[in-house]
Amino acid sequence: MVTGGHRTRILRRLTRPPARAFYIQSPVSFYVTTPIYYVNAQPHLGHAYTTIAADVLARHMRQRGEDTFFLTGTDEHGEPVADVAEREGIPPRELADRNVVHFKEMSEKVNASADFFIRTSDPEHGAAVRGFMQGLYDNGHIYPGTYEGWYCPRCADFKNEQEIVDGNKCPIHKIELNWEKEDNYFFRLSAYQERLEALYTERPDFVMPRERYNEAVGFIRQGLEDVSCTRARLRWGVKAPWDESQVFYVWFDALLNYYTALTYARPGEDLTERYWPADFHLIGKDILKFHAVIWPAMLMAAEVEIPRHLFIHGFLLMQGEKMSKSLGNVLDPFKVIEVFGTDALRHYCMREVSFGQDGSVSTEGFEARYNTELANEYGNLANRTLAMIARYRGGVVPEVTAPDALAGDFAGLPDDVRDRFDRAELTTALEQIWSRGVRRLNRYVEEQAPWTLSKEGKDEQLDAVLYGLAEGLRVVSVLLHPYMPDTTIRLLAALGQTELSLERASFGAVPGGATVGKLPPLFPKIEATQAA
Ligand code: MSP
Repeated sequence: MVTGGHRTRILRRLTRPPARAFYIQSPVSFYVTTPIYYVNAQPHLGHAYTTIAADVLARHMRQRGEDTFFLTGTDEHGEPVADVAEREGIPPRELADRNVVHFKEMSEKVNASADFFIRTSDPEHGAAVRGFMQGLYDNGHIYPGTYEGWYCPRCADFKNEQEIVDGNKCPIHKIELNWEKEDNYFFRLSAYQERLEALYTERPDFVMPRERYNEAVGFIRQGLEDVSCTRARLRWGVKAPWDESQVFYVWFDALLNYYTALTYARPGEDLTERYWPADFHLIGKDILKFHAVIWPAMLMAAEVEIPRHLFIHGFLLMQGEKMSKSLGNVLDPFKVIEVFGTDALRHYCMREVSFGQDGSVSTEGFEARYNTELANEYGNLANRTLAMIARYRGGVVPEVTAPDALAGDFAGLPDDVRDRFDRAELTTALEQIWSRGVRRLNRYVEEQAPWTLSKEGKDEQLDAVLYGLAEGLRVVSVLLHPYMPDTTIRLLAALGQTELSLERASFGAVPGGATVGKLPPLFPKIEATQAA
């Protein structure tokens, strides 16, 4: 049976270029990326956030049977890293080698199922960048010139007069900017004005959410100027093959990671044909311009297909300010995980901050969500359901037809969730699962009062209620799996289930008869003092 969600994917496949259309019978490919993180500091929750989001998307697509590739990694070249290394008196490579460990650890700790971790200092990446950029140079897209302007070394970006604040300060880092002048090479971005405008007109979902699309179109309509793509002064980077006295500007090197990784992630295999173009680049709003303007223009110049979507998320804020190392207001994801656990962190990040918007986070906020939603609503529901099946039916889920009341409420939920995932609406999908699934089941327990049915000997009704609860819990756990992979697997196992596929996520798809097990509380209550 072809469900709504599948139909969407197949139609999307059919609209791809003919070279790939013959794959119709095989699984659809899905490629998602995070930004690559600067290794100039330790990871904080703002970094963990995008990695978690990309993992949620990747796990959901795997549940749909899609041939999924999930890329994350580190951005190791350029001033941001070179400057910190200089301050610490060590070579940039040493700083990168030291800090990359923390980013890899972060990825593991948040349980990211990444298929590859790219480091831009990988020699294979460097060689691929040189090849790509040489192609642009040979075809006249790059020319020598002189650059002059305000430069922020932390952003590794020149700022125009409209962007600077308080005279000559960076609007993001609030530091005084340097007026820089140097001979380097320019990429002919201005030549892509019309093609970029056409891209945005033809693909209204290229950049999501809508306000970010408007922002990107705004940049382009201001009029594009050529951008300098090499640095003469810097030594830490990929050397321009046609002039080895220059290294590539870190953003050109960094953006290409999404493309180069596929050429060497699997030794002896080139995955480009299988996964390119990327389905989703997930990024924060501060790096929109590079991804929404320069990146597609670079690909156009090289005649490479443009990614399908950029999804731009907001900032995690603490006390109203962007959480950032330089502002010093960071939550350490490792500490949060120690107290709340990985799945609770994943749930909190996706639930508290609407994906695509800014949102405040705090330890008090964590604690409140954890206790009300995870401990009380989901965890308690799980333990009560298992306990009642054990007590009233000897631990076996009754084999009866699904109760109409619940069947009606659950109808269409998996398709709704799929549709939201197609648009990377990770928070609204979670809200739907919670309100239509978890909360509905909790109300159902109260409405039906199985303990009274048991006392009054209403066996048929009790059978239906217990099956309904077990089946509902199974459905919500399959749907929640991308958000809380470990907890949901433990709960499904206790329900006697192992199947994670979304095809089986509709209510009533799995008959009763399974033997249930016991489960310690999924989310033990957190005491206020522990989290403070
Ligand atoms: N290296 C570049 C990205 C290159 S991608 C080709 C970079 N690195 S970064 O480490 O500074 O930031 C990486 C990502 O973390 C960005 O998407 C940024 O928006 C995100 N975040 C950093 N602080 C954040 C919050 N406080 N909240 C949410 N995301 C934030 O930029």
